[in-house]
Amino acid sequence: MTINTTDGLVRLRNYTLDDCAILDDNPETLESDRFSYFGVPVPNRLRRLVDSGEAFPKYGDLTGRLAVEAQGEFVGGVSWHPENYGPINAPAINIGIGLIPAGRGKGYGTEAQRLLVDYLFNCTTVYRIEAGTDVENIAEQRSLEKAGMLREGIMRGCHFREGKYNDMVLYAVTRADFEAARAARSGTKVSTGFTASR
Ligand SMILES: CC(C)(COP(=O)(O)OP(=O)(O)OC[C@H]1O[C@@H](n2cnc3c(N)ncnc32)[C@H](O)[C@@H]1OP(=O)(O)O)[C@@H](O)C(=O)NCCC(=O)NCCS
Repeated sequence: MTINTTDGLVRLRNYTLDDCAILDDNPETLESDRFSYFGVPVPNRLRRLVDSGEAFPKYGDLTGRLAVEAQGEFVGGVSWHPENYGPINAPAINIGIGLIPAGRGKGYGTEAQRLLVDYLFNCTTVYRIEAGTDVENIAEQRSLEKAGMLREGIMRGCHFREGKYNDMVLYAVTRADFEAARAARSGTKVSTGFTASR
């Protein structure tokens, strides 16, 4: 599975064993990955998933991971999982991203998350895609905003990291937002058929 930006600068694609080797050379530490370091990771976890084929999502999967490639180089990965808010089976999808230090600050994170949102609305039936990030993670907040997500609010003390509870900002984009933005880009007037309002 490969998803390209229109200019081909950034691609989402399946992980390879070569990517795993690059990740081995860029281990997450408290210094390099302050907002995504939660302790020593399980060794070779991704390599085993790539080896077994479990790392490769199928169209429509509500859980998955894809590598981010920019200008032909592996720079990190995106992932997603369902988030249920009620007893009726109508999950949202929560997305996440992590780029190796060499891939940061070049616009790739924004583009990768834009591509992932686009892919998930096109290839799953979910209505809502969301992402949470630490209130101090300005790069991710800007990146999510630029990728078309709306800031919804602060979740106080909702995640435990660096020995303390930390606040997160919640961002989301609904299918109605997505359809409206797509219609505005193409200059056409479309009816989404969805009645939920923002
Ligand atoms: C967060 C992350 C995905 C952002 O992707 P990126 O490619 O580095 O960001 P972009 O280059 O697309 O920049 C997006 C915006 O953030 C800003 N930005 C980038 N790095 C920044 C930094 N260190 N501090 C403040 N702002 C920053 C950019 O200037 C840009 O905003 P602008 O257009 O208003 O100038 C990436 O840096 C990363 O993977 N970091 C480590 C892991 C992480 O934090 N993951 C998210 C956990 S929730």
